[in-house]
Amino acid sequence: MTRLDYRSRSFVGIAVGAALLALGAAAGWEAVRAQGHGHSHSQHHAHGAMTQGGWYKRLGPDARVAALERQLRGFETAMAEVAYRYGEMYFGAVDGNWDYAAHMGETLATALAAGLERRPQHRKSADALFLKGPYPQVMEAIKAKDLALFKQRIETLRAACTACHTAEAHPFIKIGVPTVRRNPVVND
Ligand code: HEC
Repeated sequence: MTRLDYRSRSFVGIAVGAALLALGAAAGWEAVRAQGHGHSHSQHHAHGAMTQGGWYKRLGPDARVAALERQLRGFETAMAEVAYRYGEMYFGAVDGNWDYAAHMGETLATALAAGLERRPQHRKSADALFLKGPYPQVMEAIKAKDLALFKQRIETLRAACTACHTAEAHPFIKIGVPTVRRNPVVND
């Protein structure tokens, strides 16, 4: 818990990471790169006016806080990262790469904590349905390097994901056992 609290303090970095992940997940990466290209082109013509600071610097002090909040976004970007880490945690365990599974499990909680910092209205359900039961039980199975136990508890975890979605007005987001690897991580 202390670890999460400590980490959530650097929420800007985490949330920027989450936003990037979400962008990548939405396959918007190419579009963003293309846009970036266009910008540097116009920067060139603006004779360095833009290179002295980006969009953020050009905002007045009063507009900056709102802009940061807008860019960090809400719970959906946190969830895109949670879902990614959930899948990688699963395949880490299946591969017997327990350290990778533990890393993904821990950073899943970090992503969730960052999301809850932005949208505290979801905290009650997160605690009751996920953080005080299914989640630590999966982490326990990872620590024990017990695949049979892990597979049993991942069933409870995915049901908890779905239960929270139902409780938080998104019953159509039903979570299954992961089927697709996202990272080219191998054991050797
Ligand atoms: C606090 C309860 C809660 C828990 C626990 C939770 N979710 Fe979510 N999840 C939400 C809410 C609320 C949304 C809708 C977010 C929004 O649009 O603001 C969501 C959205 C999602 C989405 C769609 C994201 C997108 O791109 O818009 C996915 C995927 C998802 N959750 C996966 C998971 C997985 C996997 C778990 C479990 C490991 C999980 N969630 C646990 C509340 C939860």
